[in-house]
Amino acid sequence: MAAAPQSVDNPLRYRFCGMDFASPIVLLSGCVGFGEEYTRIEGFSNRDAGGVVLKGTTGKPRLGNPPHRVYETPAGMLNAIGLQNPGVDYVVRKILPTLDFSETRFIANVSGSTFEEYEEVTRRFDQSPIDAIEINISCPNVKEGGVAFGNYPETSAKVVEICRRVTQKPLITKLSPNQTDIRENARRCIEAGTDGLSVINTIMGMAIDVKTRRPVIGNVQGGLSGPAIKPIALLKVHQVYQVAKAHGIPIIGQGGITTVDDAIEFMIAGASAVGIGTSLFYDPMVCKKINAGIAEYLRANGMSTVTELVGTLQVG
Ligand SMILES: Cc1cc2nc3c(=O)[nH]c(=O)nc-3n(C[C@H](O)[C@H](O)[C@H](O)COP(=O)(O)O)c2cc1C
Repeated sequence: MAAAPQSVDNPLRYRFCGMDFASPIVLLSGCVGFGEEYTRIEGFSNRDAGGVVLKGTTGKPRLGNPPHRVYETPAGMLNAIGLQNPGVDYVVRKILPTLDFSETRFIANVSGSTFEEYEEVTRRFDQSPIDAIEINISCPNVKEGGVAFGNYPETSAKVVEICRRVTQKPLITKLSPNQTDIRENARRCIEAGTDGLSVINTIMGMAIDVKTRRPVIGNVQGGLSGPAIKPIALLKVHQVYQVAKAHGIPIIGQGGITTVDDAIEFMIAGASAVGIGTSLFYDPMVCKKINAGIAEYLRANGMSTVTELVGTLQVG
């Protein structure tokens, strides 16, 4: 299901994976709680985003990792939250009914330690009002020694296949950059039935306290996000687009997007939507600026929809 133009009056409105998006911006998992956190900030509105991805959700509640869980680095941050969440049953019964589905498209983020857990959580969300399901394949596979499902095309595709069997809702697979060939992984996930791809999740890193000679992050390693990873993320989007465009599979490009030009770069590289995560921590009003900037860029370049901009990279 490719993104297709929907309206000429609002150049930012279009269809993504069969959903009506009011803007190409998607608020990223783990950066906006369960869709309610930023709505407490004056001037912020979920309506400024085409979609909002909820915090990673597992079968059972999880308390997450020991502190420290976040650490600011030059031009970015490390996080190892450890998927703290109240469990899928609570999310479906208690949180989803509190969300205003007229504001935006709400997307669940499914996480798991086993294939069976991915299946269980996806099935539960399938029977809920959620608009779409994003599969986070960066979780460690406990049955196979803790290596992330998303690091290998084989296990990534198996997770997608299992989730695809239990839901008709739009399925978006979030690819890990911590692997050899992201193109092969994307191809396998598409063949397994994903409707969209999120590119990329965080890049593993660490920080050391030289006084104590201990890792700063309680989990030793954490995921690096923010402007520091933008050039890497942009290349990964460019690479995945080479595979995805032939199948009409849209991409949510993400990793360090902070400015209007960042967002436009990702769209030129092939992203149909642009994810905003860490930059919200610096500037909760960043969405309004990026929406206005994209609309202005389209006007200045004689384009009437965002889809005209997607994948327009000139090489050679
Ligand atoms: C504090 C924090 C928590 C996150 N939690 C999740 C999560 O639960 N599931 C997931 O798929 N990605 C999670 N992510 C990754 C983001 O959704 C996003 O893919 C990544 O941070 C890159 O985008 P950014 O540089 O704009 O933040 C988290 C990121 C941060 C910073």
